Amino acid sequence: MQRHPLSPRLDHCPEGLPRAAYLGEEWFGREMVTIFARHWLMVGRLADFTPGTMRRVRLGAAEVVVCRLADGSVSAFHNSCRHRGSELCRAAVEPLGKLVTCPYHAWAFAAADGRLVSTAHAVPTDDFRRNDHGLKKVSIKIWSGFLFLSLAADPPPLLADVPLTTLDNWPMAELQTGHRHEVELACNWKTFWENYSECLHCPGIHPELCDMVPVYGRGIMGASEALGWTPDAPATANLRPGAESWTLTGAACAPAFPGLTEAERRAGYTFVTLWPSAYVVAHVDYVRLVRLMPLSPTRTRLIAEWHFAPETLARPGFDAAEVAAFAKIVLNQDAAAAEMSQRGMTSPSFAAARLMPEEYEIHRFHQWVLAEMEPQA
Ligand code: FES
Ligand SMILES: [Fe+2]
Repeated sequence: MQRHPLSPRLDHCPEGLPRAAYLGEEWFGREMVTIFARHWLMVGRLADFTPGTMRRVRLGAAEVVVCRLADGSVSAFHNSCRHRGSELCRAAVEPLGKLVTCPYHAWAFAAADGRLVSTAHAVPTDDFRRNDHGLKKVSIKIWSGFLFLSLAADPPPLLADVPLTTLDNWPMAELQTGHRHEVELACNWKTFWENYSECLHCPGIHPELCDMVPVYGRGIMGASEALGWTPDAPATANLRPGAESWTLTGAACAPAFPGLTEAERRAGYTFVTLWPSAYVVAHVDYVRLVRLMPLSPTRTRLIAEWHFAPETLARPGFDAAEVAAFAKIVLNQDAAAAEMSQRGMTSPSFAAARLMPEEYEIHRFHQWVLAEMEPQA
């Protein structure tokens, strides 16, 4: 059986990234600069940043404070005072008025734009230029109701490969967080992404998911990956007959979002991959978000959220945790697989992976990581 030229399968078996990419402090430090200090990083739903509060957020190796002003506007700054560097926001969330006041010597900055407004008890001499001592800004972007931040002044496009219109038929701006699951994984952030990028592990690791999505049970993510596939092969449904969404029973937890096309409804799931920090899965009845936050070469924080229409959340007896239970089973299986993979890579015998043709997406990810780590022109 031949690989069709339009199939995403690789036509060779390339080597993966070297061992140091998963274990080395130096490699990790370079990634924090070249990838995590440059790209847009997802920090959650804008609606979850309550007006009148500021919140600490970790962005790669940096601590950032996100200010949501009472009027709903958003600003973000490095969480470091321009006097002697103290942190500004100490708790996870703090109340916010018009000023961000440093807890050390009370310098005050305008929350809207970071301007230095007051040096409190200190009386500077004439050589001190107030305008040079505003808070260091962090770039902001909002897409589909999600808030993204970047430490770069001029970040690359948010979605290099995915049309920005992908979720336009979902009422994204209205959705509210109904359930959150947070866990620290003992693996490199790339180990989690690699596991996300292939389905060779699905038959062995995900019995429930393979029952829901029969093609996964064949170790592939879509029919075009199968050997012998041709573009004129009849399309098959993603979900098993009768299933509408990723829930324990397969039944949707709410009426399908009214704006979806027939094809979007039939697909059962629409993935949007946002390297390096998140992916979104839009179902007919809810949307799921998974965010990754690298903590060290071998630790990664994972935050998963389930977003629903407000009227779904308000329905008497509605249980968001029950809806989340199906994807949580899958997520826990993936987390265990990523940790198992990471443990094995600590073996002194491990030098680099050897990728299979079905692992084309991992290969693409590796090429992306390597290209990002090249010095930028
Ligand atoms: S370090 Fe912030 S006011 Fe002194
Ligand atoms: Fe998986």
